[in-house]
Amino acid sequence: MAETATANSDQVAYWNAAGGETWTAMHDKLDGQIQPLGEAAIETLGLQAGQRVVDIGCGCGQTTIALAGRVGAAGSVLGVDISRPMLAAARQRLAAQGLAQASVVEADAQTHPFEAEAFDAAFSRFGVMFFEDPTAAFANILKGLKHGGRLGFVCWRSAAESAWMTVPIAAAQSHFPEPAPPSDPLAPGPFAFADPDRLRAILSGAGFAHVTITAQDKMIGAPDLDQAVETALKVGPLGARLREQPDKTPTVVGAIREALAPYLTADGVRLGSATWIVGARRP
Ligand SMILES: C[S@@+](CC[C@H](N)C(=O)[O-])C[C@H]1O[C@@H](n2cnc3c(N)ncnc32)[C@H](O)[C@@H]1O
Repeated sequence: MAETATANSDQVAYWNAAGGETWTAMHDKLDGQIQPLGEAAIETLGLQAGQRVVDIGCGCGQTTIALAGRVGAAGSVLGVDISRPMLAAARQRLAAQGLAQASVVEADAQTHPFEAEAFDAAFSRFGVMFFEDPTAAFANILKGLKHGGRLGFVCWRSAAESAWMTVPIAAAQSHFPEPAPPSDPLAPGPFAFADPDRLRAILSGAGFAHVTITAQDKMIGAPDLDQAVETALKVGPLGARLREQPDKTPTVVGAIREALAPYLTADGVRLGSATWIVGARRP
């Protein structure tokens, strides 16, 4: 069970059911696809051997392992997540790597009582957009940082800016006679930080200083068409839609394959992605 109360019960439910199960089953593939997107965020932290880092929403642990490599055996990394299946995968990977300096805990980063002023850095790859009260969550994370400690994360810009998201959903559109239900752009979810002004206000409101928000545009994708189709059907905006209407999957699969085929290159299927690389410091 989680160590602390959660403020995010909808997200706890989601990441312990369909969301977490999908990510856990596909974690090797998803890691391969999004690994390049987290690297610039790790760089903003300027990590040194011996430092202590917290990995917020660590999921299946790929970045926890990468961070542990940066701080070495004299440092430590704590991964924090609310998803039991993803944490189980992370624990297996950490054990397999024999990384004694890395561990994970089941906890809500918005409310977890982090050791005060303990961490040199807080990192996240797509794990901080799901808070019901983002200002409270970042204020809580800030309390765990040393003064001068750094925050660095990567999050999505709007879905419309990432061909990786738009191409599959556009291809499937004609198979959904009803328009997608309107969604609140500020609600917790992958695109909650699309607006950089809102994101800056949240981080400043939480007490962070020296906030930098830099656009990152990178081609990402899958090694082959089969994996690109599988990903489009299970995650992202189309995956979310198909979880609501799973009976549509056999109907749309051909259209998705046809739409993604032109993006197949010698390096696999490659499409544009649009993210923010965010940096900040505890004053
Ligand atoms: C899109 S996944 C990214 C996982 C991982 N960081 C990666 O890049 O592979 C989002 C992660 O954030 C976690 N998460 C969502 N809300 C959280 C919260 N309040 N506290 C801690 N983790 C949370 C989810 O359980 C999930 O593992």
